Amino acid sequence: MSATIIDGKAIAAGLRAQAAEDAARFAAERGRKAGLAVVLVGNDPASEVYVASKVKLTRETGMESFGHRLPAETSEADLLSLVARLNADESVDGILVQLPLPGHIDSGRIIEAIDPRKDVDGLHPENAGRLMNGLQGLVPCTPLGSMILVESAVPDISGLNAVVLGRSVLVGKPVGQLLLAANATVTMAHSRTADLPALCRNADILVAAVGRPEMVRGDWIKPGAVVIDVGINRLAPEPGREKGRLVGDVAFAEAVDVAGAITPVPGGVGPMTIACLLKNTLTAARRRAG
Ligand code: GUN
Repeated sequence: MSATIIDGKAIAAGLRAQAAEDAARFAAERGRKAGLAVVLVGNDPASEVYVASKVKLTRETGMESFGHRLPAETSEADLLSLVARLNADESVDGILVQLPLPGHIDSGRIIEAIDPRKDVDGLHPENAGRLMNGLQGLVPCTPLGSMILVESAVPDISGLNAVVLGRSVLVGKPVGQLLLAANATVTMAHSRTADLPALCRNADILVAAVGRPEMVRGDWIKPGAVVIDVGINRLAPEPGREKGRLVGDVAFAEAVDVAGAITPVPGGVGPMTIACLLKNTLTAARRRAG
């Protein structure tokens, strides 16, 4: 058996097209474009790539992009005062502070300073609490994108066994909440979980978000399962190559023979994250505008 490949690139393109329609309608009705502020502190190369891509796609979608680049030695107090200015700025509907921040800045304190109504990353404790309590809020982008991919492969999640590998605040915990809200029976697994392969073999839906290259082997997967691979890991370069291959947390070549549907890396969850950021920005803009 060979799994259906879940085409995150195509699904994300559809979401971006919808976001562009919504952005045009918002601008026509409100007389201004929806706006997203992206803050980058320092020059982490991966963050630079992500931020450049966020800025480009925000503009292409017909929204205003406000970029704020600050040096690595920026103090926590200065970053907090930028966040306060963006909170008060009526042209800013969404605020994203790119993570990780330099070590001398407390990320938690920065995230808590963001107005929850503008927290398009969905990381503010108020939004995390709203998700947990089934209340309207803003949902983190990668979990939201992962869930849309699950739903594209299984129309009815209710009653299925879902296993989430990884318990991060950014991905694992919110994915678990979204699956639970869709009536899956959710198990949160992590580095201390006993007999991970046996647990995974019971999963109708398996979400891997651990950041360990190809950790999930083909024989961990229940035949026919839906596998969502959130990991993006770069391997060491092969001889004669400048860059190593990008692989997920799942050994794709093995898993594809067992799963019913699986996301590739790249081209699975990755493109969904920015598409969901654009979607969240429009959601925030509409709610703020009332
Ligand atoms: N760094 C890696 N992923 C993310 C994300 O989803 N949001 C933010 N703010 N930073 C990140």
